Amino acid sequence: AATVTYDFDVSWVYANPDGLQNRPVIGINGQWPIPTIRVTKGDRLVVNVKNSLGNQTTSLHFHGLYMNGTNHMDGVDAVTQCGIAPGSTFTHNFTVDQPGTYWYHSHVRGQYPDGLRGPLIVEDPDDPHKDLYDEEIVLTFSDWYHGMMTDLLKGFISVANPSGAEPVPDSALVNETQNLTVKIEPGKTYLFRMINMGAFAAHYVWFEDHTMQIVEVDGVYTEPADADMLYMTAAQRVSVLITAKNDSNSNFAFVGSMDQDLFDVIPEGLNPNVTGWLVYDDAKEKPPPKEVDSFEPFDDFTLVPEDKEELYDHVDHTVQLDLKMDNLNDGANYAFFNDITYVHPKVPTLYTVLSTGSNATNPAIYGSNTNQFVLKANEVVEIILNNDDPGKHPFHLHGHAFQLVHRSEDEAGFYDSNAAPSFPATPMRRDTVLVHPNGNIVLRFRSDNPGVWLFHCHIEWHVASGLVATIIERPLDIQAQLAGKIPQDHLDNCKLDGVPTAGNAAG
Ligand code: C2O
Repeated sequence: AATVTYDFDVSWVYANPDGLQNRPVIGINGQWPIPTIRVTKGDRLVVNVKNSLGNQTTSLHFHGLYMNGTNHMDGVDAVTQCGIAPGSTFTHNFTVDQPGTYWYHSHVRGQYPDGLRGPLIVEDPDDPHKDLYDEEIVLTFSDWYHGMMTDLLKGFISVANPSGAEPVPDSALVNETQNLTVKIEPGKTYLFRMINMGAFAAHYVWFEDHTMQIVEVDGVYTEPADADMLYMTAAQRVSVLITAKNDSNSNFAFVGSMDQDLFDVIPEGLNPNVTGWLVYDDAKEKPPPKEVDSFEPFDDFTLVPEDKEELYDHVDHTVQLDLKMDNLNDGANYAFFNDITYVHPKVPTLYTVLSTGSNATNPAIYGSNTNQFVLKANEVVEIILNNDDPGKHPFHLHGHAFQLVHRSEDEAGFYDSNAAPSFPATPMRRDTVLVHPNGNIVLRFRSDNPGVWLFHCHIEWHVASGLVATIIERPLDIQAQLAGKIPQDHLDNCKLDGVPTAGNAAG
């Protein structure tokens, strides 16, 4: 295995990805879009981050990587570190033992939609589908705002917006542009690694006259499954095989179409689609996509993992989260789990684990508004999420891929275990999953990875309005792994923030 090093200087640059508005965006080394991180399974990844934004703290989170034994490298502001202060540096150093398609993004509240989001690909010499394709292509889908996140957030959480209507994106992008062509050779098979890096909108994705064969979701290989249309929520990844036609008489459009059901108001003139083209022949025209009259995407709960891992058939620990949106006394709208809206702590939760000795197993020491759950070793944990809200939400758990045990239809209400729904024998696993409007989901995982891991809606507006829970997995094992081992550059960022750091003194 190799060590792969990236030196990232994070700063403001200008970009105009939809041709409608030039604006400041967060770039790396003076460039935007930001670079793709590429490693091979087993490699050590070192990322040296310098914050040259001047006016904001920042962080980098590596979405979907388990960070086994390296929870302090997870990149989550106020949870596993302090935000990297302007002018300051922070080094991530960890090994990557998972294959597949991931992404990296800022995990400072509200920040990544300003541009700090990029692909992270882990190549796998043992990829079971390797012989099935000739080349790979990375496609990112995302939504885009003309406004700056700091301004949009002020309007979103305010008395002027008591209903909590989320700002609607101004456009959709593929590979951070609206002008993408992908050169294709007849007869070849391509692995398309697709990532939704958006802030809000899920995308319906399809390729005109080409079938997609799903082979990986969120870093977990699948038994191959054919799909005509996908639904990709914010933060989900799907890899598909597409075989090019044998002749090059035409070029073909592919489309990412934002799910407008998510938008409270559809602004006049909004184009929810971004179109790219599979180009067989540059000399031929690029035909526009046909109208689609029904959106019937593939259901990820029907997938089977390639390793056929069986359902965890008993549960040791149930975590029930009842979701609702409501107003607080200040007149603004917030999101709640079990009547608590998440407020991030002053001291990163991981540092509290490290400084409290045997008290770290007591949930009460983590305060009254972090929605914290403390897990013991090797429990089968079941998350039951009841969505008491008419919106769709994509939920993500750090540090794990969970089994997709059950998902209700719309309007099913709270999960009822007595109704004994039947569960898949070999459930698919992934790290981000959609819950339907007023529906519920049931997820299971094993507590085999000590760390402080967030569970949250990946709609960035809902992170800001508090739809976040904290899973404190095996705190005494975290201490055994990390007490006294938090690097000085991590702690220095807390001093610059004026936040006390107890972390290194623990033992
Ligand atoms: Cu994509 Cu909390 O992360």
